Amino acid sequence: MPVPVIIDCDPGHDDAVAVMLAAGDPAVELLAITTVAGNQTLEKTTLNARRVCTVAGITGVPVAAGCARPLVRPLTVADDVHGESGLDGPRFPDPAVDIVPEHAVELMHRILAEHPEPVTLVPTGPLTNVALLLTRYPDAAAHIREIVFMGGSTERGNRTPAAEFNVYVDPEAADIVLGSGVPVTMCGLNVTHQALATPEVLARLEALGTELSRICAELLTYFASTYRQLWGFTAPPVHDPVAVARVIDPETVRCVDAHVAVELSGRYTRGATVVDLHGYTGRPVNARVAVALDAARFWDRVIAAVDTLGRRVR
Ligand code: BDR
Ligand code: CA
Repeated sequence: MPVPVIIDCDPGHDDAVAVMLAAGDPAVELLAITTVAGNQTLEKTTLNARRVCTVAGITGVPVAAGCARPLVRPLTVADDVHGESGLDGPRFPDPAVDIVPEHAVELMHRILAEHPEPVTLVPTGPLTNVALLLTRYPDAAAHIREIVFMGGSTERGNRTPAAEFNVYVDPEAADIVLGSGVPVTMCGLNVTHQALATPEVLARLEALGTELSRICAELLTYFASTYRQLWGFTAPPVHDPVAVARVIDPETVRCVDAHVAVELSGRYTRGATVVDLHGYTGRPVNARVAVALDAARFWDRVIAAVDTLGRRVR
């Protein structure tokens, strides 16, 4: 039976690929796509989610807009990485998929209450919507199978020397999620930096020969250009689908149990995830933490999903 999931995202080049993986892989059933401000403003990430659904032929899945800013701090966007639109690179047709007239948090709450089995949440942007869900609706926790998010790191950051972008943008939200008691898996930079869209990966995508694979390759080519310019990467790390891959095929992403704390007040370290891999603090485990990626298996799955969707939409 496919695992029911809701993806909560801020597309975002790698979010776009995460949505395609979740929609195109038979191991998951995508129940909804919710958007949050992060890589760009909410207006732009929501438009981008609609664009992705349109080109990927994702039509029966509700898309809902969520929070326009973090819980307590002003929004920081990543236009340096994702461009002015949040999804720079390809030209997109006018979106043919609309949003539903319900706030993302309300939609998530309703789906969780109505679905016959517990649902997995896969946040790939700042954790604002999910934290609001858990605080506004404490009953929701019992209906969540697990929360598998892309964010944080066991090592250093990418937005500041200490902090990864998604946790940096809304550290209070990450702190709420990690303290919620719901099973949480953190897929951080230490693993997502192994999910590199190498020239071989791009060639495999292009060889699929569909309109969707062409758009996907263009997205990753743009993403490669900003990663090269900003950080000197020879191939860009495609972070967000790693969290989806962990749900689809857990063996792709090896995890260990640990306590993860979020730095909320550090002078230089706001948003750092302090991962106690060796039990120094004696604090109880509150997360599974991803530590290794089977990159070949990961890309096989992503490429197969893009192929499935691309053929369907052609
Ligand atoms: C995360 O930040 C965003 O720019 C990406 O979409 C990803 O979710 C990586 O730090
Ligand atoms: Ca993202």
